Amino acid sequence: MTTTLLPSTTLPILNPQTHDTASYDDTDVIADIKRLKKERGATILAHYYQEGEIQELADVTGDSLKLARAATQVDSPIIVFCGVHFMAETAKMLNPSKKVLLPDLQAGCSLSDSCPADKLWRYQEMLRENGRKFQTVTYINSSAAVKALSDWIVTSGNAEQIVRKVPEEYEILFVPDQHLGNYLSEVTGRKMIPWPGSCMVHEIFSVQDLVDMKRKHPAGKTIAHPECPKNILEHSDFIGGTEAMIRYVGGFAEPTDFIVATEANMLWQLASKHPRHRYLPVPGVSCACNKCPHMARNTLEKLRDCLRDLEPEITWQPEFDKAKEVLERSLLRD
Ligand code: 13P
Ligand code: SF4
Repeated sequence: MTTTLLPSTTLPILNPQTHDTASYDDTDVIADIKRLKKERGATILAHYYQEGEIQELADVTGDSLKLARAATQVDSPIIVFCGVHFMAETAKMLNPSKKVLLPDLQAGCSLSDSCPADKLWRYQEMLRENGRKFQTVTYINSSAAVKALSDWIVTSGNAEQIVRKVPEEYEILFVPDQHLGNYLSEVTGRKMIPWPGSCMVHEIFSVQDLVDMKRKHPAGKTIAHPECPKNILEHSDFIGGTEAMIRYVGGFAEPTDFIVATEANMLWQLASKHPRHRYLPVPGVSCACNKCPHMARNTLEKLRDCLRDLEPEITWQPEFDKAKEVLERSLLRD
């Protein structure tokens, strides 16, 4: 049975001991995936925002940074990327000799879509014409064409470190996530020119519900992803990317309640790694859960089909050459 996360008022607590992630009907599909994976010599990389049943089948699970780095270490001929399009593109750019498959080629990202390359190029030109001296720092949630127009690529895991590297004489054009840009500006003191993009999942949390949950669980700790808007972050005890959240929670020896403002599948990963705690998802303003609809396009059936058919494949595009350079400089070197 697939875990359903109901509104926090109804069923907020995910217990790894009692939640099964795969139904009896899924068992044949899972057996096929395991067999095909071996036959094809494939490595499965899965983002923490995939359903638990997909994460369970992966060789590596991680956030964007961990998976990008893991992609460079793969020595099997095929990478199946269970995540969204920009992540699979990144894996291809960082390990070009591999066949990179994405179970659903339509698995996009609202944040990446908010910054088309032609619009960014025109904006950069306008800033240059106005004599502005700037570097473009781009969140990895962007197309390869946008990465190719950038000086740096950051993930939630290394953003602060990279922003601090940008020489003081440059302004920072931060694209495409305005909330992450504003958060980074606060922690580093660097002035940002933020692009007005945002993640449809992290933007939708209800502040009112969060405040109510904090009142009901006064000993609880609130953890939030920096893609959330300021009105959520200011109620949080800890702000960090997914990998940092796991480390933070792991630092609590005693069972603790965590109120979680990020994509709902992260609760599966948190509960698997640190089952002594309870995890309470902050609901969205208009929906019961906060699952990314783009990530959700990848299903067990599509994973099986792509291993069987060896498609859809991410093929090399002309803009990958320049984007690859920026990615390597930003993610693979200290
Ligand atoms: P991280 O993987 O860096 O935590 O980013 C979260 C996200 O929104 C991925 O699409
Ligand atoms: Fe994009 Fe947000 Fe989904 Fe991540 S969670 S893939 S940022 S829409």
